[in-house]
Amino acid sequence: MSLYVVTGGAGFIGSHLVEALLGRGERVRVVDNLSTGKRGNVDAAVQSVGSGGRPFGRPELVVGDLGDLDFARRALEGATIVLHQAAIPSVPRSVKEPVASNRANIDATLNVLVAARDTGATRVVFAGSSSVFGDTPTLPKREDMPTSPLSPYALQKLVGEQYLRLFTDLYGLETVVIRYFNVFGPRQDPSSPYSGVISLFIKALLAGTAPMIHGDGEQTRDFTFVANVVDGVLRATEAPDVTGQVINVATGTRTSLNELLRVLQALMGTSLVPAYGPGRDGDVRDSQADISKAARLLGYTPRVSLEDGLRQTVEWYRASAS
Ligand code: UD1
Repeated sequence: MSLYVVTGGAGFIGSHLVEALLGRGERVRVVDNLSTGKRGNVDAAVQSVGSGGRPFGRPELVVGDLGDLDFARRALEGATIVLHQAAIPSVPRSVKEPVASNRANIDATLNVLVAARDTGATRVVFAGSSSVFGDTPTLPKREDMPTSPLSPYALQKLVGEQYLRLFTDLYGLETVVIRYFNVFGPRQDPSSPYSGVISLFIKALLAGTAPMIHGDGEQTRDFTFVANVVDGVLRATEAPDVTGQVINVATGTRTSLNELLRVLQALMGTSLVPAYGPGRDGDVRDSQADISKAARLLGYTPRVSLEDGLRQTVEWYRASAS
C-alpha cells in the first residue's frame, strides 16, 4: 500500500490535500513543524472526510523541522509519494526575514529531495509559485517564459524548482512542480499581516473594519480556489509523462484587488470603503496563468469558479467565527 507523505500537511493547502487523500482511502503521513500549520487543520480534514470506509483512521502526524536532514530522513521513511508543501509562504515575510525563509524554502526542500531519493520514493510533487515570473511583461504566463524573481520568496521557490529538475536528471527521482497562483479557501489563516489577501479582506468585512489595499488596487491576480489546486496536484501524483515538468495550476483569468473587493462585498452584503496604503516591496503587478499545459498533461480544468470559491470561503469564515 502506498504511503503519501504531505509536508506542510497541517497548513492550509496541505490539509486540503490530506483531506482529499483520506477521502480516497490512502495512507497518509503529515509532516509539519506547526509554525504556521495547526493540528486543528488536520483534525478538520479528518472530520470532514468522516469515518465511513476509511481504512487508516487518522493520519500519522510527525512534528519537526525539515531544515534538519536527519529529521527529514525519519519523516520520509517508507514514503511512496511526497507532496512537498511545507514552506514559509509569504513574499513580505521573505523580504523581512530572508534567512529564515531561505531555510524553510530551500534547505528543507533539498533535504526532502535527498530523503525521498534515499528512501526510494517514486515521486515528489512540489508547491511552486507564480511569484517566480516577477514583472515580466507578457500575460498569461506560460511555464517556459523567463523568470524574474522580485523577492527572496520567489527566488527560493525558483531554486526549489531547479533542485527538483536536477534530482530528476542526476538521480532519476520522478519530480513534478505545480506552480500555484494565489490560492484561497477555507482554513487559510487570516491572523497574520502576511496572510493571503482574500482571508484578510473577509476578516475585515466580517469585523466591519476597512480592508487595506496596498497600492492602487489595480494589481491583478489569478485567484485560485483550493479545490482546484488539490485536483491539479493529485493528478500530478499519477499522470504519466510529467517527470521533470513545471506546470501551472490556476484558473487562467485575472482579477484586480478592487474588483475582488467589489465581488466580496456583494456576496457579504457590506459596503465598506477600503483604506489605500503604499504598495508592498517585492509585489508583482499582474499575474495570470496559461493553464493549457495542465490541461494537456494532467487533464486539468478548474472546477470551481472564483465566485463559487469565494462563496464557499465566506461561508466557512462565517461559520468559524460563530
Ligand atoms: C504571492 C504569489 C503566490 C504565492 C504567495 C505566497 C505572486 C503573483 N503570487 O502572492 O504565488 O503563493 O505569494 O504568499 O507573486 N494586499 C493588499 N492588502 C492586504 C494584503 C495584500 O492589498 O491586506 C495585496 C498585495 O500587496 C498583493 C495582493 O494583495 O498585491 C496579493 O497579496 P497576497 O495575498 O499576499 O499574495 P501575493 O504576494 O500576490
